[in-house]
Amino acid sequence: MSNKNDKPEGKEPESSWKDAIYNPRTGELFGRTGRNWGLILLFYLVFYGFLTAMFIFTMWVMLQTLNDDAPKYRDRVASPGLAIRPNLLNIVFNRSNPLEYGQYVQHLESFLDQYNDSKQAKNDLCMAGQYSDQDEEPQKKVCQFRRSILHHCSGMEDATFGYAEGKPCVIVKMNRIIGLKPAGDPYINCTSKTETLLQLQYFPHEGTIDRMYFPYYGKKSHEDYVQPLVAVKLLLKKEDFKSEQIVECKVEGSNLKNDDERDKFLGRVTFRVLVTE
Ligand SMILES: *[C@@H]1O[C@H](CO)[C@@H](O)[C@H](O)[C@H]1NC(C)=O
Ligand SMILES: *[C@@H]1O[C@H](CO)[C@@H](O)[C@H](O)[C@H]1NC(C)=O
Ligand SMILES: *[C@@H]1O[C@H](CO)[C@@H](O)[C@H](O)[C@H]1NC(C)=O
Repeated sequence: MSNKNDKPEGKEPESSWKDAIYNPRTGELFGRTGRNWGLILLFYLVFYGFLTAMFIFTMWVMLQTLNDDAPKYRDRVASPGLAIRPNLLNIVFNRSNPLEYGQYVQHLESFLDQYNDSKQAKNDLCMAGQYSDQDEEPQKKVCQFRRSILHHCSGMEDATFGYAEGKPCVIVKMNRIIGLKPAGDPYINCTSKTETLLQLQYFPHEGTIDRMYFPYYGKKSHEDYVQPLVAVKLLLKKEDFKSEQIVECKVEGSNLKNDDERDKFLGRVTFRVLVTE
């Protein structure tokens, strides 16, 4: 008898943790009945369903306010960075060795392909010195920039862009910024950072960047847009060969930033040129 009485008492702790998982007497699983679990499941289903719907709805509303062509939020005064072609900040070659400067020539040639006079002929002749505002037009016109404007640096008169004679051309371009209309008359001014006095030649004349190439309306509505370019020819002399030239080009004459301490490509670019013979 006493033995029988002891047994349930001794078994109780064991059965209680088992009951915690599944209690066969009440049919509870983890302390809840099937109906109870069903209600909890239903609650969370509705709750998360509502959250998901809310998220999708707000996302949709926000996307409706975005424009495919222009970014919604921009810095107050956007300023473009400068870049050069050939796309290397160290231009080193032996002017007597076409294999060494061939890569630069090829790079310039393929970059200028889109500026071929034959391709540019279908674009518009715009009014020099005037912005090409065309906010309303669905299809934006593109202002011509023919590579022949770059004269000695066009690759048309001299197929090696001056590399064979040791007076290499470097093309400076401003990165595209949608809607940018630089005030004033921007031009590219390059200076030598090394001791030697370096003669430079600019194409177009005085390194001007005409206003007619602004504003840019974005890839979608301004499909064939080409950026204006400035070519700089480094007129190295015989005594300059073998000595490294450090050249800094800046955009000047406008409100575009070119002296940001943290961003050395904002409105300026520095590159090295070393020519041997
Ligand atoms: C440049 O190339 C020429 C011809 O290949 C060669 O005679 C000359 O030594 C080279 N100069 C240098 C500095 O390597
Ligand atoms: C671009 O012009 C160069 C020479 O001026 C020519 O060799 C090349 O075939 C032209 N490319 C196109 C696509 O017209
Ligand atoms: C180009 O920059 C140099 C150095 O900052 C300056 O001395 C020169 O006057 C500038 N040239 C022009 C045309 O602004």
